[in-house]
Amino acid sequence: MSRYKFVTADEAAVFVNNGDAVGFSGFTPAGSPKAVPTAIARRAEAFHAEGKEFKIGIYTGASTGDSLDGALARANAVLFRTPYQSNRDLRDALNTDHAPYFDMHLSSIAPHLRFGFMPKPRIAVIEACELTEDGEIVPTSGVGISPTIARLADHIIIELNTKHPKALRGFHDIFEPLDPPHRLPLTLMKPSDRMGVPVIKVDPEKILCVVETYLDDEVGGFAPTDDVTDSIGRNVANFLAGELKAGRIPQEFLPIQSGVGNIANAVMASLGTNPDIPSFQMYTEVIQDAVIELIRKGKVTFASGCSLTITTPVLQSIYQNLDFFRDKLVLRPQEMSNSPELARRLGLITINTALEADIFGNVNSTHVMGAKMMNGIGGSADFTRSAYISIFTTPSTAKGGKISSIVPMVSHVDQNEHSVNVLITEHGVADLRGKCPVDRANCIIENCVDPSYRQMLRDYLALSGPSHTPQTLRACFGMHITFQKTGNMMDTNWADFK
Ligand code: COA
Repeated sequence: MSRYKFVTADEAAVFVNNGDAVGFSGFTPAGSPKAVPTAIARRAEAFHAEGKEFKIGIYTGASTGDSLDGALARANAVLFRTPYQSNRDLRDALNTDHAPYFDMHLSSIAPHLRFGFMPKPRIAVIEACELTEDGEIVPTSGVGISPTIARLADHIIIELNTKHPKALRGFHDIFEPLDPPHRLPLTLMKPSDRMGVPVIKVDPEKILCVVETYLDDEVGGFAPTDDVTDSIGRNVANFLAGELKAGRIPQEFLPIQSGVGNIANAVMASLGTNPDIPSFQMYTEVIQDAVIELIRKGKVTFASGCSLTITTPVLQSIYQNLDFFRDKLVLRPQEMSNSPELARRLGLITINTALEADIFGNVNSTHVMGAKMMNGIGGSADFTRSAYISIFTTPSTAKGGKISSIVPMVSHVDQNEHSVNVLITEHGVADLRGKCPVDRANCIIENCVDPSYRQMLRDYLALSGPSHTPQTLRACFGMHITFQKTGNMMDTNWADFK
């Protein structure tokens, strides 16, 4: 006879009230609860039908699945949302002022909750593959901020998802640092080291109820690679092979952090096939499909992450071979996986994706035309600022060539010129290290910009008289403004901005 109360998702949702701050487990759709958030959305809709308010504040590790962000956004039930999202309906809501969203560095959310910078979650909803009578929670495929919200929340609702095997116990390294001035160093010296425990331990009295589920993570597939992503991947791999040959990367290589999305997945696949790149380890936040393939081939010897953001067939194939993966994978809370302290100590080679970059090396990964939020900054700055070498990749153009991803000045800054070491597109590599702004601009224009936009950007540089950073304020957004007027940056005429 269990000490816990087993209920339906709708019965669990009744514990959540209008105005509550709720913390959800997981990181990306991996490990995010599915049944309870959908039931909360139904509860919100029922309240709204009676003309009553019902909205909740939402803390997560990162993005989630559609049954969390999508369902709550469609139900107009979002009081506030942080730190990262990638759901189409939530994106529409936050870009039309229907869902207040604040974008945060992923390593910061758990400590900021502990410091009291944001309202404490009243309820934590945590997906688990195992829950013991004495309050041990074994997370599923993503950890996120689960240890912190489980400790801070007054109450916990568990989604016990048997789609994830109990044998996942042992794959997690759960540790929560003390807060300043009592904080101690995070002691990992290599990606495979551990410093925590395999479970999240809570007071079982805090567990309000348990909802049993049997649901897949809602991880979407990846776009197949194409000529552009293949070339970007090849350029990244050749650049790193060159650095290794030149002795600027040690012979044993260094751990890789790789970002999210299609391009990051394609880059990892290219690294795996380059014979000049030795076997390597990963210290990253999201472990995507391509990494699993590389582990199977022996090219990646160990991967530390915050989540297995893996499509269902590939995840199930891991679960069928857990013994093979047991000494090759570890999942940690994002305060550890994204720790700038560890990124600096381990000497990470970081590879993230830009939506746009400027000729001086600033990067925008979040805001389309400076205004519309795409996803969020994620962990990109946690890693970039502390990297051994920080790389940003982007296709040189978007929307069939009507947008140049490289512009005079980014319309929003996520990473600045001081943190971005290398920019790579399908056309080539701009190594920005040790270069002044003018040299960086020439290097980016000649190596990375699409040939059809090169002369436009050379002409932009010439608009300004000599200066340290030859920026011309009346023209620096000329390409963006032209796109907004005509739908094509190619129509930019600098004479219009004199
Ligand atoms: N202006 C306008 N739109 C642009 C653009 C630009 N300069 N560059 C790209 N886009 C559009 C693309 O056309 C595409 O639109 P579509 O979905 O309508 O086709 C979309 O942006 C995304 O492109 P996609 O090829 O799907 O990129 P991706 O899946 O590789 O994701 C980011 C790229 C930048 C959105 C993603 O990496 C991200 O959210 N990064 C920030 C967080 C992060 O780096 N986390 C990792 C840290 S570990």
